[in-house]
Amino acid sequence: MTLFELSSISKPVSAAMVEFNRLYEATLSTCAEPMCSMMRHLNQSRGKQIRPMLVLLSAQLLGEVTPSSYRAAIFVELLHGASLLHDDVIDESDLRHGRASLNHVWGNRSAIIAGDYLLARAVSLLTVHHDEYILGNAIGSASDMCEGELMQSAKSASLDINEQEYFGIIARKTASLMATCCTLGALSIKASSKDVESLREYGKNLGIVFQMRDDILDYVASSEIGKPVGNDIRERKLTLPLIHCLEQMPQHERTAMLDDIRAGRHIDAIAKTVVQSDGIAYTRQRMEEYGDLALRQLQGFAACEALTSLQDLVAFCSERSW
Ligand code: IPE
Ligand code: IPE
Ligand code: MG
Ligand code: MG
Repeated sequence: MTLFELSSISKPVSAAMVEFNRLYEATLSTCAEPMCSMMRHLNQSRGKQIRPMLVLLSAQLLGEVTPSSYRAAIFVELLHGASLLHDDVIDESDLRHGRASLNHVWGNRSAIIAGDYLLARAVSLLTVHHDEYILGNAIGSASDMCEGELMQSAKSASLDINEQEYFGIIARKTASLMATCCTLGALSIKASSKDVESLREYGKNLGIVFQMRDDILDYVASSEIGKPVGNDIRERKLTLPLIHCLEQMPQHERTAMLDDIRAGRHIDAIAKTVVQSDGIAYTRQRMEEYGDLALRQLQGFAACEALTSLQDLVAFCSERSW
């Protein structure tokens, strides 16, 4: 249980989230099999929907949610969904939201096509309504996510990564899209460029917090997250808890641990060493710094329920167990 529950965070936009879900389902309704069954599988196990929530809260903070805010929210959730479908293929992961991933049920080829399908649906949604600003802003994040994923793959091959490179990867693979969500919410109600910029920076820092927590959760078992634990080491993904642990080790121990990671040996023991080191505490401390940066961006906005929710999201993202 986390102190800040998503259900209360989403309250200021709860009616808008219901409408978002109705429109999202309609966007994915299709009668051609087997795509139809795959979309049904996805619709049956939704995620946290933090990205559309960010769009709608950012819009609500400064005005009223508009039809264009909904399309922005759907666009980012489809882009995110596509990235997860492709990510589970890349990571050979058979579990998502606590149930079988699409690649596990239908195979890699179909899962990749389903990801492309989500992207196609996202783009077609915009062409009907001429929301060029959505594509214009979100496409940069789509490129960032691809770049981040490839940088991560390269680092998994070399096993040579420092802290700065780690932050470069998570900024691209996760934080960029969250920054875009806030930007789009603000743009959908024609906010001033100063407010757009503050919200973009808030979203970027929140995204970094979000991914750091995800990387901690890989070492701290949680039945709620519905994703395998210890997978990052198995995938040779060196995240901050492990990077920091390695940096503190004498050279010969570091070499031995990297050899084990390369060979896929003693994964549980490595995870235990990381947990016993101060790798997690250090990651938490850095995460709090980014959380503070996110909160600072919100200081100029007038108090309202949406503002409280955006503030509480920082705490949720740093404490979440799912
Ligand atoms: C998972 O994101 C991918 C990461 C960036 C770690 P979420 O944890 O937000 O996924 P859903 O939306 O709840 O499925
Ligand atoms: C999620 O990355 C994919 C993107 C952020 C594009 P991860 O591989 O780290 O996340 P999970 O653990 O599978 O959700
Ligand atoms: Mg993954
Ligand atoms: Mg991955």
